[in-house]
Amino acid sequence: MSQRTLVLLKPDAVRRGLIGEIIGRIESKAGWTIRALELRDLDRAALEQHYAEHVDKPFYPPLLEFMTSGPAVVMVVEGERVIEGMRTLAGPTDPIAATPGSIRGDFGTIVRENLIHASDSEESAARELKIFFPDFS
Ligand code: RTP
Ligand code: MG
Repeated sequence: MSQRTLVLLKPDAVRRGLIGEIIGRIESKAGWTIRALELRDLDRAALEQHYAEHVDKPFYPPLLEFMTSGPAVVMVVEGERVIEGMRTLAGPTDPIAATPGSIRGDFGTIVRENLIHASDSEESAARELKIFFPDFS
């Protein structure tokens, strides 16, 4: 079951020089391929759509500030069960609860600055890919 998912390497990952480390883990998964990739500043309008479920939460303003604090890497990753698989590779939202071996578990300590985003379902992936890669098909 080949799928596509949206992956963001958040500004903390870029700042800390972890792009290569994280992309290496994604590329190491058999049969997964990076179909699009760009280092870019994320704009507020795109983030508001992306995080629509969170815009009214108290953590949204600091999250928006963090997500616009520097460039991020935006990627389309394709492959077998990649939506579920990327969530497993990333680990749970709270890096302290994330198992060592996962990206968040190996490199994070702070809930907000948790290095990576990966779409959480087929519906989210389709929605988010349209926001960040409107011309990609
Ligand atoms: P993401 O959407 O970034 O892949 O992360 P996720 O599904 O694991 O977590 P989600 O609940 O969707 O939250 C989105 C991002 O908001 C930040 N966050 N801060 N209480 C807090 O301060 C808080 N809770 C969430 C994190 O950056 C989280 O990844
Ligand atoms: Mg989420």
